[in-house]
Amino acid sequence: MHYFHYKESSEQALRHEIERDLTKEIRRDKGVPLLAIPASIDLSDTYLGFSTAALVDAKTIGDDTISKQAQQIVEQLCAKIPSGSKINFHCYSITDTEKIIETGRAEILKEKIKSLLKKERILPLRKNFDRSLGFVQVAITPNRSLLVSVINCEELNRYRSLISPFPGGFTYGEEDKDAPSRAFRKICEAQEIMGISIEENEQVIDLGACPGGWSYVARKRGANVIALDRSPLRDDLMNDPQVQFIQADAFKYQPTVAIDWAVSDIICAPERIKELIQFWVAEKRCRRFIFTIKFHGSDEYPMLSEFKAIVQTLEFSVILKQLNANKNEVTIMGWKQE
Ligand SMILES: C[S@@+](CC[C@H](N)C(=O)[O-])C[C@H]1O[C@@H](n2cnc3c(N)ncnc32)[C@H](O)[C@@H]1O
Repeated sequence: MHYFHYKESSEQALRHEIERDLTKEIRRDKGVPLLAIPASIDLSDTYLGFSTAALVDAKTIGDDTISKQAQQIVEQLCAKIPSGSKINFHCYSITDTEKIIETGRAEILKEKIKSLLKKERILPLRKNFDRSLGFVQVAITPNRSLLVSVINCEELNRYRSLISPFPGGFTYGEEDKDAPSRAFRKICEAQEIMGISIEENEQVIDLGACPGGWSYVARKRGANVIALDRSPLRDDLMNDPQVQFIQADAFKYQPTVAIDWAVSDIICAPERIKELIQFWVAEKRCRRFIFTIKFHGSDEYPMLSEFKAIVQTLEFSVILKQLNANKNEVTIMGWKQE
C-alpha cells in the first residue's frame, strides 16, 4: 500500500483530493492517522497538495522484537539499495494522538538498523536530507507493526512532491523572534523541502512582502531583495540598502534585472497565482519560485487539479505541498532544471 500523512485539519481535503485525482479505493486503518491506497497505483510525478509526506509502496512488518524487526527492515532495504550507498533515513513512531515521535522504541530500532547497515556498508545520513540519494522510512504504528518504504534515488526524484525531508512531513521549524511576522516560517520550510537555499548575492523578488518576513529571511541569507506591496515593510528593512521597496500592484510589475527567486505570499484568489506561474515560471523570468495558494473555505480545493495540469507543462521540478506553517493554504514551489 501507499500511505499518506496529512495535517489533522486536512484529512477530508486529502481524501477528496485522492478521490478526485487518483482512486476511490482509500483505506484508513483504525488508530493509524494515515490514508492508504493500493500500491498498484503509479505515483510517479504525482502531486497531492494536502499530504505532508508519503510512504510509497510501504511493506508491513508485524509486531515482534526490535531485533527481528530490524533484521527484516535491513533485508528489505538491501534488496533495493546497493552496498556502499548513503541514504536518507527516517524512523519514527506515530502515536494514537496523531503525533510523530523519534524517541523511545523508534530510537532503539533506529540504532539497531544503523548497526546492521554498517555491516552492509550502507550509511544513513545523520541530519540533512539529500534529494540525490535513496530514502528509507520506517513508521511504527500504535499497534507496533511497522510500515517500511524503501525508494532509490531515481524513484525519489519521481516522487519528489510526495516525500518530505521531515519525518512524517512534520517539523516545528526554528523560532526567530526578530522576524517581522510569523510568515517567515513558510519560506524557511519551503527551502528545506526543495533542498535548495537562497544564496548570498542572489536576486529575490518578494511579491506581497509586507511586513517583511520573507524579505527578512532572504536578507539573512545575503540576497538582494526587490519587495512589492501596497504597504511598506518594517523600518529596518525599508532602511536596508539591499532592499528595494516598490509600492505597487505585484501583478503589474515587469522586472528589469535578472531574478533568481520569485516568491509570493500575496493574499489573493488561487486563480491569480496561475497568472504568477505563467509570468514568472512558464515564461522563465526566474530560476526558482515559491508561491502560496490561499483558499477561502474549501470550495476552491478542486482547483488544485488545475495547478497539477499546469505543472506538467513547466520545465521546472515542482513540489506542491501543504506546509506545517500553512493555514488554509498549499504552497507551490520549484526550480529550473539546469
Ligand atoms: C500575508 S501578507 C504577506 C506576509 C509576508 N510574506 C511576510 O512574511 O511578512 C500578504 C500581503 O500581500 C499584499 N498584497 C495583496 N495584494 C497585493 C497586490 N496586488 N500587490 C502587492 N501586494 C499585495 C498585502 O498588502 C499583504 O501585505
